[in-house]
Parts: sequence; C-alpha cells; structure tokens
Amino acid sequence: MLTSKSKQKEIVYANHLWKVWSDFRYRIGEIIKIVSDNCGQLSGKALILGAGYGNDVPIEILEELFEEVLLVDIDEESLVHFIKKTSCPEKFKTMSLDLTGFYNPNINLNDMSNKEILEYIRNIVPSSELSRIEGSFDFIMNCNYTTQLISYFSNRNVRGSVEYTRAINELSNRTMNDIFVNIERLLKPGGILLHSTDLFELSFDKKTGAESIARKILLPATDYNLDNLYKVIDEYFPLLQEKGCTIMGSIPPKESLLLFNEFKSFFIPWKYDSSDRYEVTYVAYIKAWKSKKNDDSQNAIKEKKHSFFSRIFRKK
Ligand SMILES: C[S@@+](CC[C@H](N)C(=O)[O-])C[C@H]1O[C@@H](n2cnc3c(N)ncnc32)[C@H](O)[C@@H]1O
Repeated sequence: MLTSKSKQKEIVYANHLWKVWSDFRYRIGEIIKIVSDNCGQLSGKALILGAGYGNDVPIEILEELFEEVLLVDIDEESLVHFIKKTSCPEKFKTMSLDLTGFYNPNINLNDMSNKEILEYIRNIVPSSELSRIEGSFDFIMNCNYTTQLISYFSNRNVRGSVEYTRAINELSNRTMNDIFVNIERLLKPGGILLHSTDLFELSFDKKTGAESIARKILLPATDYNLDNLYKVIDEYFPLLQEKGCTIMGSIPPKESLLLFNEFKSFFIPWKYDSSDRYEVTYVAYIKAWKSKKNDDSQNAIKEKKHSFFSRIFRKK
C-alpha cells in the first residue's frame, strides 16, 4: 500500500490533473447530455466505475441528472476527494472494490522467472468484486480505467516477447469480459453504458523526431487539425487497428459487446502533455451502449401482444 508521503504526492498530482483534465471533463459532460437527449433523458441511479478523484467526470452533470450515484474505485481515499468536489454529497455513495478480483500488492514479479510469470498470468481467473453490488442502475460509466487493469504486467520489461504480449492481451480480454458481464447484470432495461477510454497515443519526441504510428497516420489524415478527427476516424480505424495502434484494454472483446446494443460513438483528441521534449495527445474513445434487456422485454411484450391478437383474430 502507498505510504502517506507518496499518497500526499499523489493528491497534489491529482489536483494538478483536475486542471489538466478540465477540457476533457467538459467534453464528457457534453457527450452525456447528447446521450441523454437521444435516449429519452437519463435519470435515476448511476454507477461510476474507476471514479477516482473525479478528474474525468463532469460531477455537476451527474448531480443534475441523477437521484443517486454510486462511485466505485479500488482507491478508497481518492473517492473521499471526489465527494469533496460535489455540491450535493447526499446523492453520492462510495464503494471501494477491485474491479478485477486479482489485484495483489504482495506479488513480486521480479522474484519470478519469465516462464513463471507467463504461467501465473495464464492461470489468472478474473472475478470482479462488482459481484458485491446489488440492485440495478440506469446509467453505468467506465471512467478510463480499463487500460490500467493489467498495467502491472504490461509495464514489466520481460518481456517484449510475442508470447508475453499475447498472454497479457488475453488476460485483459478475460478481465473485461468478466466486468462487462457484471455490468450487464447491473444495467436496468433501457439503461445506458458509457465506456470512456484512451484509444490511440499520438506522441512526438521533439529531440529525435520519432513519432508514434497513430500520429503518423492521423495527423495528415486530419489535415494536421485533430478537430477534424470525427470526419476521418471511421475510414482510418481499421488501418489503425491492423497496425496495432489501439492501447491494450481500450476496446472490449467481441463477446462483451454482444451483451449490449450499439448506441453512439465519440472520438475526442485530448492533449495530455507537452514538455520541452515530448508532445503527447491521446484519442479518447467514448462509446455508449444500450441494455439489450429493453429490446428483449419489448420483444417479449410484442410477442405476447402478437399471440393475444392472433388468438382474438382466430376467435373471430
Ligand atoms: C486513469 S484513472 C481514471 C481517472 C479517475 N476517474 C480520476 O478522475 O481520478 C483510473 C482509475 O481506475 C482505478 N483503478 C485501477 N485499477 C482498478 C481496479 N483493479 N479496481 C478498481 N479501480 C481501479 C484507479 O484507482 C483510478 O482511480
């Protein structure tokens, strides 16, 4: 666990991020409003996953739309800071839990051989503590955490082998599947899931001139103006995927997506960092899905109506 000194540093950094993320937060707020307008007004209960310090969450819009909001994060202290930023704290509840079920601060990969690490990763069976949550929600939001869930493994430099990359990629998919199954269980009929994540990294090293593949492709495609991203992203998305530009953990696996109906997608450029040496912009992917339960129940109603009417007509 973090010492209080490093926690203190983390809080100072989080306050800095509050400013850095303000534009992103504003845009997420606009997206939530668009989604709300298009789905017949969001209201009721919201569940915010990876809520952390609330840097990427338009808190005032959550307060405006929802009667109850449950904030979830593994970092209990960050949620205390989130609550301090709210103006109606009575609307909020917090829950500290591990979305993966395999977070283990005591495991030290440096004590293990590459073969042991690979075995360890392959044997992990994710079991999200979302299973502890009961009830149902009108709106569930994934707040930019899915690319972090396996970062403990992906940050190791073992590694570089194709086998290792495949193992952590598979672990990331197993983890997301497990989380999305829980989300599906918790989403009300007609409910909305909003998945927000960093998707492509556009980085440039001013000293060496090196740039990421995503930047090489997207800058000329947008006429060197990333505000044009929405015009070209559908055309370039398959190429970027083929070139391996998507950040691991950003796109949920196909099995997860089958649980929901597609609703709306948004791509926003987000300037993360510009130092003397590096320029980094992320393309964030914000995707809204609708619960399938709605359609199924509607279909069931339609089927019932159909058989009712066909019986009446038969009688006549
Ligand atoms: C990049 S941050 C997202 C920013 C965050 N919403 C904020 O505004 O501070 C990812 C968040 O996911 C949380 N997180 C990472 N791994 C987690 C896990 N296994 N279970 C629950 N939350 C986790 C982190 O504690 C962090 O708050």
